[in-house]
Amino acid sequence: MDCHLPNENMPEHYVWKSIDGMKDLVLFNAGRVPDDIRITEHGRKIVQANCIRCHESTVEMINQERSCTDCHRRIMHKRSGGIETQ
Ligand code: HEC
Ligand code: HEC
Repeated sequence: MDCHLPNENMPEHYVWKSIDGMKDLVLFNAGRVPDDIRITEHGRKIVQANCIRCHESTVEMINQERSCTDCHRRIMHKRSGGIETQ
């Protein structure tokens, strides 16, 4: 929710929660989840916006067009457990 859904406003959040939820439901039950899960271009923008949303003051001086995960590939968010990005 915090990382992969848009969190700018409530309506947008819930619209994408429904779309992504339906996608998960259909693909999972149809056994069509690929072994190699790749993020879409849209998903990438959402994740980037969420990095910036939570770390706004830290990144205010840097170029926010650059992908955060290019450098922070193995982020360990302690509160959410170990997350290893690709
Ligand atoms: C929901 C808010 C939230 C989001 C979204 C988020 N962070 Fe964080 N981040 C935190 C908090 C809180 C901490 C400090 C506590 C912790 O590590 O869990 C942190 C810690 C960090 C750290 C320092 C700790 C470490 O393990 O190196 C880095 C670097 C970081 N985040 C990068 C990112 C990047 C890159 C993204 C996007 C892929 C991101 N964060 C998304 C809240 C967030
Ligand atoms: C060119 C590589 C690079 C990019 C791109 C980059 N960072 Fe960083 N970031 C670093 C380095 C190097 C540090 C300092 C060393 C460390 O803590 O990992 C750092 C530190 C941080 C910290 C503080 C970590 C701490 O321990 O307090 C946060 C939070 C963070 N970056 C978030 C982001 C976010 C969000 C983005 C995307 C907007 C981003 N970074 C893009 C290289 C990068």
